[in-house]
Amino acid sequence: MSERSDLLGKHIVLGLTGGIACYKSAELVRLLVKAGGTVQVVMTEAAQAFITPVTMQALSGRAVATSQWDVREANNMAHINLSREADAILVAPASADFMAKLAQGRADELLSLLCLARPRERCPLLVAPAMNREMWSHPATQRNAQILSDDGSLVLGPDCGDQACGEVGDGRMLEPQTLLEELIAFFQPKVLRGQRVLITAGPTFESIDPVRGITNHSSGKMGFALARAAVEAGAVVTLVAGPVNLPTPRGVRRIDVMSALQMHDAVLPLATQHDVFVATAAVADWRPASLSQHKIKKEGKKVAPTFELTENPDILAAVAALPDAPYCVGFAAESEHLLEHARAKLLRKRIPLIVGNLGPATFGRDDNALLLVDATEHRELPEHGGTADKLDLARALMLELARRMKLPAALS
Ligand code: CTP
Repeated sequence: MSERSDLLGKHIVLGLTGGIACYKSAELVRLLVKAGGTVQVVMTEAAQAFITPVTMQALSGRAVATSQWDVREANNMAHINLSREADAILVAPASADFMAKLAQGRADELLSLLCLARPRERCPLLVAPAMNREMWSHPATQRNAQILSDDGSLVLGPDCGDQACGEVGDGRMLEPQTLLEELIAFFQPKVLRGQRVLITAGPTFESIDPVRGITNHSSGKMGFALARAAVEAGAVVTLVAGPVNLPTPRGVRRIDVMSALQMHDAVLPLATQHDVFVATAAVADWRPASLSQHKIKKEGKKVAPTFELTENPDILAAVAALPDAPYCVGFAAESEHLLEHARAKLLRKRIPLIVGNLGPATFGRDDNALLLVDATEHRELPEHGGTADKLDLARALMLELARRMKLPAALS
């Protein structure tokens, strides 16, 4: 993926408490800075037993705060100064002991002190637990995690898997890349909060015989970017994906299919359980009328085999025709006359919005240019021409959808 600056202008206080996962926080600082954020690291005494402040200073470009008694603070109020300039405080790793402290509102060293002193309405607290599985599953820790959530903090993870102690289970800190994505998502406006969004993505594969088939160049990147943007905007997302080689965006329920018929059969029963349906998939229009049971062999034949094609169902049109249809958005991949073709599809499929793009220019790429077309108007995204990263376009499209659906969060 291209270099992104999703945290530009954001100032993060990154708190480290005692745990072997501290070594991962070095990578996390690097990622936060790379994403455009400024990072002030605060370390407890226990954290400094695992990784030195020198490492964290070198990576963040700022002296690490370790004590509330630092005489270099002019007003001697490090806890106030640090928490007033932060856009968010992320404690990663958060030990079981530190979570207990937060839950009780204790403040006997700098990090817990500044968490307690933060202005809660504008400086959110996110915690990424990291501990042995027995410690995590202990009722006391579970109680504390619940208290933190009830108090308005966001508990990220933990992950399940191998632990430093050799055991396997819940308690690993989320990977740095995941924590970065969680933080970026946290800052996105929740314009689709509570909405259920269904998305199709990628190509379909229509089998000719057990080893061959008909497919197309769709990479699925636009659909996957839309799924990620929808989750970031607060939606519950189901993604029905054709054969693509892409990781599932965090928080997305993914259903893998191969053919247009499978995609149709997966989508139709789900459609009315969703508020929005976005069809980005490049569905094959035709499939071989019959499937050869075995590989079609050359066997010295000079004449190429021929096979009949039969039309696939139009998934988008079928969803749009349902009595209780969700808000339907189509995609039109064209090679010329984008506006005319896109509007013709809008009318033919009886949908309120279609997004045109030039297929050959966008398939497989990280950027795209969109043309939003409804019955009476059209407008470009990005607004002033050129192309933009697919994730940025996906976020803009989610906002556009929320406005068109007159969702309260998008109108305020
Ligand atoms: N679509 C669909 N099911 C199909 C074909 C298309 O759901 N069998 C959806 C696509 O996901 C996209 C929109 O319809 O959102 C436009 O698809 P496209 O193939 O470009 O349109 P067609 O109607 O097939 O027109 P043509 O192939 O002639 O361009």
